[in-house]
Amino acid sequence: MEKKKILVQFDPDLHASVFDRVVAIDSGVDELFSYSNVQPEQVRDLVHGAIFTRGPKDLKNTALFIGGANVEKSEKLMEKALAAMVPQFGLRVSVLFDANGCNTTAAAAVRTAAKTLDLNGKKALILAGTGPVGQRAALLLAKLGAQVLLSSRTLEKAQFAVLSLAKKIGESFSPIAVQIANEDELVKSLKGVELVISTGAAGVSLLPEKIRKAIDSLKMVIDLNAVPPLGIEGTSVMDKGLVRDGVVCFGAIGVGDLKMKIHRAAIAALFTANDQVMDAAEVYEISKGF
Ligand SMILES: NC(=O)c1ccc[n+]([C@@H]2O[C@H](COP(=O)([O-])OP(=O)(O)OC[C@H]3O[C@@H](n4cnc5c(N)ncnc54)[C@H](OP(=O)(O)O)[C@@H]3O)[C@@H](O)[C@H]2O)c1
Repeated sequence: MEKKKILVQFDPDLHASVFDRVVAIDSGVDELFSYSNVQPEQVRDLVHGAIFTRGPKDLKNTALFIGGANVEKSEKLMEKALAAMVPQFGLRVSVLFDANGCNTTAAAAVRTAAKTLDLNGKKALILAGTGPVGQRAALLLAKLGAQVLLSSRTLEKAQFAVLSLAKKIGESFSPIAVQIANEDELVKSLKGVELVISTGAAGVSLLPEKIRKAIDSLKMVIDLNAVPPLGIEGTSVMDKGLVRDGVVCFGAIGVGDLKMKIHRAAIAALFTANDQVMDAAEVYEISKGF
């Protein structure tokens, strides 16, 4: 008899994310084991509980989800979880990493762009791309062949992010770091850009309307900030392909439906094999189904 699908949720926060728990149930898991306030040194024993209970052929019905509001803390849990598996004996389970929605959000934004634009060789700017979502969006766009510019208020921070991306995707594909600390630098960085994805912190306005309207090359803007003031002035969180001044616009809620579909599909896909590690690129692959 097929074993029940058990999703084990690790969350470093005091309370495991309710959002992630609801999505897990909506994705069809039979049992959800939620662990909150998980510390890196506790991960090994928790993982061993998951991999040493069912035989290798049934382990595809146990999977891990790593969430949490602080992506760096969750990355440490991910590292420990992968190290605790025993793959040489088939004793491992599939893992999905989506701390603070970083992978599903980045995948939804890039998939939204790719459905309309041929991104190969095209210039794309990730505004305030140094955060978890921005870095992942940059990585996915670069893998699609776009010429990616990743901005920060300081060049050093953008360069640091680009360096870490180069390690993952190779230097020849890696984005170009740009500093945008004032309007002159913004206008300069927007030259020839067809796609802007705004990934700044909640409530931070990054692209004034008058500048957006003056960029002739611009074809699409996607703003992932849902908290006013929006990242891209003169758009709406609800925009879902609305054309404003000749530019296709998407707001955070506009890409939210796709994000949710990707999140649910990624959880469902965990239970098809016991050896998957789903990070940005793998989650993007899933997004291609939508
Ligand atoms: N719809 C969803 O489900 C969903 C899920 C996750 C995230 N989001 C949204 O996606 C966006 C990106 O998320 P994230 O977690 O990657 O963002 P984040 O880490 O909070 O911030 C991204 C970048 O914004 C810049 N920033 C921070 N404070 C700023 C300020 N006061 N002025 C100007 N720039 C500032 C910083 O870049 P520099 O210091 O390098 O300039 C930072 O690295 C957020 O708006 C978030 O709310 C949506």
